[in-house]
Amino acid sequence: MTHTTNPDRAFTPSGQLRLGVFFQSVNSGTIWKSADSGSQTDFESFLRIAQTAERGLFSAFFLGEGLRLREHLGRPHALDVAGRPDAQTALAALAAVTTHIGLVATQNTTYNDPADLAHRLSSLDLISGGRAAWNIVTTDNAWTGANFRRGGYLDHADRYVHAEAFVETAKRIWDAWDDGAIAPSASADRWAAPGAVRRVRHTGQHYAVDVTPRLPRSAQYRPVLFQAGDSPDGRDFAARQADVIFSAHPQLEDALQFRSDIVDRTLKAGRGANDVKIMPASEFILGATPREALEKKAWVRELQIGPQQAIAYLEQFWGRELQGFDPDGPLPEIDPVVEETSETRGSGFHGAKARQLADQWRAEAKDKGLSIRQFVSARTSRGDSTFTGSYAEVSDRLGEYARTGAVDGFNISPWLIPSGLDDIVNHLVPALQERGVYPAEYAGTTLRENLGLATPARPDATADPAGPVDPASRAATARA
Ligand SMILES: Cc1cc2nc3c(=O)[nH]c(=O)nc-3n(C[C@H](O)[C@H](O)[C@H](O)COP(=O)(O)O)c2cc1C
Repeated sequence: MTHTTNPDRAFTPSGQLRLGVFFQSVNSGTIWKSADSGSQTDFESFLRIAQTAERGLFSAFFLGEGLRLREHLGRPHALDVAGRPDAQTALAALAAVTTHIGLVATQNTTYNDPADLAHRLSSLDLISGGRAAWNIVTTDNAWTGANFRRGGYLDHADRYVHAEAFVETAKRIWDAWDDGAIAPSASADRWAAPGAVRRVRHTGQHYAVDVTPRLPRSAQYRPVLFQAGDSPDGRDFAARQADVIFSAHPQLEDALQFRSDIVDRTLKAGRGANDVKIMPASEFILGATPREALEKKAWVRELQIGPQQAIAYLEQFWGRELQGFDPDGPLPEIDPVVEETSETRGSGFHGAKARQLADQWRAEAKDKGLSIRQFVSARTSRGDSTFTGSYAEVSDRLGEYARTGAVDGFNISPWLIPSGLDDIVNHLVPALQERGVYPAEYAGTTLRENLGLATPARPDATADPAGPVDPASRAATARA
């Protein structure tokens, strides 16, 4: 593991914010029904969002990953992310038509293999001139696993043990070429200097690697590492391994608590208090006046959760057809089908709790006098992560985040593609710049520079380069 040699013990707010854009596909947060909705899959949409983001000096363009389309009762469940092109393919195309914005690919540690993924991420990093990043996720379930040779092979508790061995192996692969390994001129004898490339071997519980990495270091040394996963194990993993956390804590009080928790964990991991940046997921609904923003919010919600979407949302939890129910009437009195598997039925669903959940929701809806549509709209409102208001109001609120150091920036999900960043870049960014909390230009050409991240410490080339890295094989080595 690489870390700073003299870690800062105290966290110091930078007073600055950075922005990223999380391009979603079709889900309950996006509007595909408006006359202004463009394609969620055409390259033109990716291009327009990335170029708008770059005009607004955004640090990063993110793509999520869903390895199997969720279904419900045998049909694609359109309320979850659907129609998402492969992240690295889309980002490689964007690398050619952008110059500064970072390109972040969400990639899973459970179903990928480290030597292969490290090589593909290195490729993106090299062809983009040092702008690649990996958003590390650990999602595993039998539904997704059925799509892969190994199946859903990993115990839930093992996800982060596996992820850690995976990431440490990837780091060793990226470390394996020394600086200056490539011939500086045509008169050199060899393209790669002898001894400047090391072989990486690893035999662990979940996979084995024996590889001589094929690519040199990039302009930013190696891809930047983001992490998304909120459990205590996920946070400790991020504290040890990540450069940036893509968090789920955008509200100020919650964000401050999350920061303090991450600083504690980062210090325990032997790193500096400022070493891990935090960028929460967020949505912005803005207007010239507070009233305009509120009107826009009502319009956005109406389109995000129409009658069909409201019924489909409940069907995930009820596990049965509910098409006969009136979206403007009360929640269904019939009970959920408990036996249905959970993976196809929406995140957070737990089969055994289905009846309890239905009772609870019916009581809540009755209590508040909410129809199916109003109830679903409230549940999916993303209230916690939505910033609604005039440009001035919202930039004042964001200024508070910069001042307190609650976050290092926001990862914005536009609800409309491809114009969803226009008002943010045209109005919010200048307002943030006026308040002195947003950069006036890119700090450099690499993502690491633009996020204010230090270059990783060079590895000790004399240390055993082929030693085992995961806890199981460390223990085996100790016993031998
Ligand atoms: C903000 C955020 C974004 C995420 N994006 C993805 C994604 O695009 N694809 C994916 O498979 N998992 C994604 N995840 C899921 C995590 O990788 C992880 O599987 C999940 O949060 C459960 O891990 P935990 O128990 O540590 O929270 C995301 C999680 C968070 C918090």
